[in-house]
Amino acid sequence: MPFNPLNERGLPLERQLRSWSELNVEPYRTEEVHPYTRCRVIVMNGVEVEAIIFSHNFNRNCADVELKQRLQMVRRMEQQQQKAVNWLIPGEAKENAIEVTIGYEQVAVDLTAWLARHEPDPYLRQVYEFGLLEDFDHLYRYANLMDLMGNGRKAEEITGSYTDITPGRPTIFEHRDPRDDIRRPMTVQAAHRQSILNAQTLVSAEQQTMNYYMNFGNRPTDPLARALYLEIAEIEEQHVSHYESCLDPTSSWLTNWVLHENHECWLYWSFLQTEVDPRIRQIWELHLAMEIEHLRIAAEALEQIEGKDAAELIGAGYDAPMTFEENKAYLKKVVAEQVELTAWDSQFVPISDLPQGHRYFAYQAKVNAGGSPTEEVIRRHRQEFGTEYRREDAPHSVPALQEEGPHEKLAYWQVTRANGANLGASPAE
Ligand SMILES: [Fe+2]
Ligand SMILES: [Fe+2]
Ligand SMILES: [Fe+2]
Ligand SMILES: [Fe+2]
Repeated sequence: MPFNPLNERGLPLERQLRSWSELNVEPYRTEEVHPYTRCRVIVMNGVEVEAIIFSHNFNRNCADVELKQRLQMVRRMEQQQQKAVNWLIPGEAKENAIEVTIGYEQVAVDLTAWLARHEPDPYLRQVYEFGLLEDFDHLYRYANLMDLMGNGRKAEEITGSYTDITPGRPTIFEHRDPRDDIRRPMTVQAAHRQSILNAQTLVSAEQQTMNYYMNFGNRPTDPLARALYLEIAEIEEQHVSHYESCLDPTSSWLTNWVLHENHECWLYWSFLQTEVDPRIRQIWELHLAMEIEHLRIAAEALEQIEGKDAAELIGAGYDAPMTFEENKAYLKKVVAEQVELTAWDSQFVPISDLPQGHRYFAYQAKVNAGGSPTEEVIRRHRQEFGTEYRREDAPHSVPALQEEGPHEKLAYWQVTRANGANLGASPAE
């Protein structure tokens, strides 16, 4: 039986307001937390942030005072939910910001992989697999940084053995002309209900990652750490543009409000079923009850103002919960098949298919002039430790990536250099 939030009874809005002490939850213990519990906390924080930012934008574009008040009533509860979720992450001395970053990229890997595997539309699946390989590479670059920053913890203490830490599409090659980040939109009418939920999930998660790096990236003192955050933050902007352009641009604000509340319901419902920490499970349960009420309020507004039925947007409900689980075998396959893809307008093509003089090469030559921090972090790790940091159960599925970087045998390296980009100095040895 699918779970249909429109048929459920939620927690009335007047009972949702919580006190400061209720919101100031006790953080999880970093030594004990399941890596995928951390992932769920990071995702739900991003989803609540998106709910809030969306609602603020709606408010700025809405002249109806009575509707603005309804939005504000719900928005205040979204803010409280965001606090209760994000305050589960321990303070700097217990889990520092680079360790949290490893959690963010583990989310990007295992969330995107699950969504791609459960995406019914072949084009959207390709969009997700394309982004997946890029975040997979970020995890490996940050893991090397974490090791260099030297507080003794390894990235695998954050990720567990669930996620490989090894090169994906090398970040140096992810930088593309802005026009090549725009994808084909779906339409709410024609799209599978799961496709809408999948795209909303990626937009929220990538936007939160972008914001986190934009704000945290200047906090380290070390110039290499600052440079690494800066370079990867620019890719997260590409990812937000890439995923958000999949959404239906013709939906009304009220339709989008209903879709947002429905999306929050789906993820709390999903995490409620898969959470292993009983205390955090209670938060997912409480927040699901709140979201069911938010959805009812948004659906009522859609009906009153536009005369539209929210049931048509939501369909029969959800069949499958989003599940954090291992995707190692799937990733090995996707890396082997797609590492050399790049984007041209809304299509994905092997880099060797780009014509000479394509705007990709001009962009690469400009931003990578003088080398790239994501390459430098690996070089520095090899200088200090004699090797790079990886965590993988079997050799890399791309032979050229089995060797330590830089990856001069990759077509990316050869084609990009042949087109005039300076990819930085070769490593010292
Ligand atoms: Fe919410
Ligand atoms: Fe990333
Ligand atoms: Fe990303
Ligand atoms: Fe909500």
